[in-house]
Amino acid sequence: MLNIEKVRADFPELSLLINGKRNTFLDTAASAQKPQVVIDSLLETLTRKYANVHRGSYSLSEQLTYEYEQARKQTAEFIKARSPKEIVFTRNATESINLVAATYGRSKLNAGDEILISEAEHHANLIPWQMLAEEKSLKLKVFKINDNGSFNKEAFLSALSDKTKIVAVTAMSNVLGTIFPIEEIAKAAHQAGAKVVVDACQYAVHAPIDVQNWDCDFMAFSGHKIYGPTGIGVMYGKLELLEDMPPYQTGGEMIDTVTYEKTTFAPPPARFEAGTPAIAEAIGMAEALRYVENLGWKNILEYEQDLVEYATNALSTVKGLTQVGTAANKGGVFSFVVDKIHPQDLAFILNQEGVSIRTGHHCAEPLVHRMGYETVARASIGVYSNKEDIDILIKAIDKAKTFF
Ligand code: ALA
Repeated sequence: MLNIEKVRADFPELSLLINGKRNTFLDTAASAQKPQVVIDSLLETLTRKYANVHRGSYSLSEQLTYEYEQARKQTAEFIKARSPKEIVFTRNATESINLVAATYGRSKLNAGDEILISEAEHHANLIPWQMLAEEKSLKLKVFKINDNGSFNKEAFLSALSDKTKIVAVTAMSNVLGTIFPIEEIAKAAHQAGAKVVVDACQYAVHAPIDVQNWDCDFMAFSGHKIYGPTGIGVMYGKLELLEDMPPYQTGGEMIDTVTYEKTTFAPPPARFEAGTPAIAEAIGMAEALRYVENLGWKNILEYEQDLVEYATNALSTVKGLTQVGTAANKGGVFSFVVDKIHPQDLAFILNQEGVSIRTGHHCAEPLVHRMGYETVARASIGVYSNKEDIDILIKAIDKAKTFF
């Protein structure tokens, strides 16, 4: 069982006051708070261990190169990849998906081919495909979700065809919280001859990933959402696909040989990591992954499932509040609107009560419109969130209602 008080004590920022009130942080879906071990790891690398990696013939560089590569190994183990060579470090999930579109997409897809995404995608899993489609005369198809935000299997299967070359879907929606059945989606996509790209940015925080079980071809997540630093993300790709893909950016460290006339490229993952990488951040992210593993997925799942149920029930008791995204299988993201209160005004009042939420279209404008809104409020939880956070949120919403 998770010892929530101990977990909360691991995150120093949670003990700060916000506008003189208890810090009720409910915006983990945007970016998570950091445990002390991650902060310590960054400090340690930058104050005692720092040098560039892969370049130096001196002990500081060799030692840090070892730690950087250990971070890759740890990440591979975390998502059950077959090899650390399948882990490309990027800046974030957005860059990871852009990388797949710009390399695999641009080199393998031809005019008339189709890319299939769901209605529930974040802009990061929509715009790269939209631009690729424009550039290469491809067709971007969008399959419908159900009105409660759940996966619509029939809509997916009927949009899938032998023209589909890429299926790009989120594993968990950042607006609706819906968890998508990736294994099932990948199976059908592969039968149709398509490759599968998974945006696991939200999912990675709440449940364990097994890329071999999912059998996805590419998968992306960000370090900062899973209690790690900003500026570091992951692009997983099956090795045989990575080996057959052209580079993304070019420059230092991604080469085999260079002459003024011609360059040959390093094997993956180095081929996709041009320039000095985010060294301290990669090592810090590995520390965050270790932190999550030490808490134990079983404990996290149990704890968060209970909290999701508690929050869903609590929100359903608020008069005038409509939840947006009520799929049965959902994680800790709660979007909602409250009668007569613009989400932005609501967030302003909540902030006075020490409650941090996000409002807007959440970088998923077509999805929010499809759900029938211009903008929604969103509260989201992390492993440090508790029932008191939810109770304070509900009280603050009730207080906001008295102003309107
Ligand atoms: N994608 C992040 C969110 O949903 C930033 O808030």
